[in-house]
Amino acid sequence: MSARIIDGKAFAAGLREKVAHGVARLKEQHGITPGLAVVLVGEDPASRVYVRNKERMTQEVGMRSFAHRLPATTNEERLLGLIDELDCDPAVHGILVQLPLPAHIDAAKVIAAIDPAKDVDGFHPVNAGLLMTGGRGMVPCTPLGCLMLIQSVREDLSGARALVVGRSNIVGKPMALLLMGENATVTIAHSRTRDLAGEVSRADILVAAVGRPEMIRGEWIRPGAIVIDVGINRVSAPEKGEGGTRLVGDVEFASAQMRAGAITPVPGGVGPMTIAVLLRNTLVAAHRQAGLGDPDI
Ligand code: GUN
Repeated sequence: MSARIIDGKAFAAGLREKVAHGVARLKEQHGITPGLAVVLVGEDPASRVYVRNKERMTQEVGMRSFAHRLPATTNEERLLGLIDELDCDPAVHGILVQLPLPAHIDAAKVIAAIDPAKDVDGFHPVNAGLLMTGGRGMVPCTPLGCLMLIQSVREDLSGARALVVGRSNIVGKPMALLLMGENATVTIAHSRTRDLAGEVSRADILVAAVGRPEMIRGEWIRPGAIVIDVGINRVSAPEKGEGGTRLVGDVEFASAQMRAGAITPVPGGVGPMTIAVLLRNTLVAAHRQAGLGDPDI
């Protein structure tokens, strides 16, 4: 049997449409246009593409987009000054500083300077703490998008065995907390895990976020499991001619598809969800800053 393919691209398009409706309603009923500021330091080619896509999609849902592109030589003080301005600007409801930052800038210090209410990435220690303690903060976009995709297949995760492979602050740790919040029994695996194959084989839900091409073998997967592949790895593809490349996930897709109940493809799975959830978080932030209840999305 072949797994159901979880179409993240279509799900993300639907979510952006709901956000667009929410934005229109907020404008109409309260005269507020949500604004998202994106800060890019340096010339990293992948980051430039992400920032351009964020700008375009922000405008497509009817929000204001404020992009700040700073040279790689920008010093920490200058960046902290910009964050301070954005924190104080009432037209800006969400602030995102594109990571990674150049090595001479202390990323933790920059993230801590963002007003937690405007931290639409959910990376500020206050928001990380609120997620940890079950409070109402901003939740990191990629793991929240993964949870939405999981629940599009299986709404009730109570008692399910969930395995998160990867322990980053951006994906692995918040993902584990979100799954625990849905009453799953959560295990976190990482580079020192002794028997990864054994852990994978027990998981009803698998979230792979390690950034290593196809490291999770299809034959390890529990039959019927929900598989969410966060990895986006570019590998060489000689079949596409000299210098050809293709994108693969952290899971060996072809063999995993034969065992899983549902699986996200790469590309077109988790990837498109991140920006859609970022826009959702910006809409939520704008509501909260206006003292309104959360939008129903
Ligand atoms: N770089 C890669 N992913 C992300 C993300 O989700 N947010 C930010 N700010 N930078 C990133």
